[in-house]
Amino acid sequence: MSYPLSRLRRLRKSSGLRRMIRETYLSVNDLIMPCFVMPGRRIRRPIKSMPGVIKLSIDNLIREAREASTLSIPAVLLFGVPREKDEKGTEAYSEKGIVQQAIRNIKKEVPDIVVITDVCLCSYTSHGHCGVLEGNPSQAAGHRYKDIRIDNDRTLEILAKVALSHAKAGADIVAPSAMMDGQVKAIRETLDKNNFNDVAVMSYSAKYASAFYGPFREAADSTPQFGDRKTYQMDPANVEEAIREVKADIEEGADIVMVKPALAYLDVIYRVKRKFSCPVAAYNVSGEYSMIKVASQKGWINEKGIILEILTGIKRAGADMIITYYAKEAAEWIQETRY
Ligand code: PBG
Repeated sequence: MSYPLSRLRRLRKSSGLRRMIRETYLSVNDLIMPCFVMPGRRIRRPIKSMPGVIKLSIDNLIREAREASTLSIPAVLLFGVPREKDEKGTEAYSEKGIVQQAIRNIKKEVPDIVVITDVCLCSYTSHGHCGVLEGNPSQAAGHRYKDIRIDNDRTLEILAKVALSHAKAGADIVAPSAMMDGQVKAIRETLDKNNFNDVAVMSYSAKYASAFYGPFREAADSTPQFGDRKTYQMDPANVEEAIREVKADIEEGADIVMVKPALAYLDVIYRVKRKFSCPVAAYNVSGEYSMIKVASQKGWINEKGIILEILTGIKRAGADMIITYYAKEAAEWIQETRY
């Protein structure tokens, strides 16, 4: 008997044929590199729970951005780790804030790299929530330990200011991750009113209340001091709701929508891509990074094989771009293996 399916598979021993019938191509163009930037000079502070990921002062961040650009990685995503925190996260929109300075410097030194900025308050608020709290925060800490309440609409005003300050500094894309209702609209309107019509919005539309963010919270020093994020981030059990979130964000003016995390949510990526024609980003988050990194440091798994497989899987599910802490390694591996 002659079986066409297995014939093609057997012929795949030839790498040429394997490439001819391959359905999904991972490309360096798909990668976005997240970076943590902090005040100071010549600082490279390792993040314990994310081995290999390092918080950088601006001088070192420039070097990192240059390296990314040399590897043809198209974009960086900036997270600030500020010195000052307060109840309302005011440092997040300071003209001299760490992210604003970082943007100006990258734009000057590495002008060809796309600069995307995280727009959220959690690393800027003393309580570590993504928005401002309703009422008196110290009362909230005492009385509403479990059921904290975020003042959605007051938070929108602040997020819009943050996004505007990033645009003024030269950001190409702002990425609101606070999961406040109406955040895309508030930001879009403010940008347009101030003549930043060209600054795009990448919205964290379907952001789940996930345990996979654990290591990031150490990195960004953004662990909630009380309560959790379940009142504003999504229930991992829901996918129809994700479709509604994405739809709302596109209607509000999002240019790119995001699903986050990636691995436990491949069906969400798939559904979103099928339903909407908008570019879809997937965030391969900190916990997903650390699990692979630590197991490979122990010699238990093949790091390169697993990462290329995971990134290909995320792309096959429908992601047009992938935010990954493995961006630099992946860029090298993709080139060297003609993957
Ligand atoms: C801030 C934000 C988080 C991440 C990106 N932006 C954390 C959170 O919601 O707690 C997580 C990224 C990662 O885990 O890699 N709102």
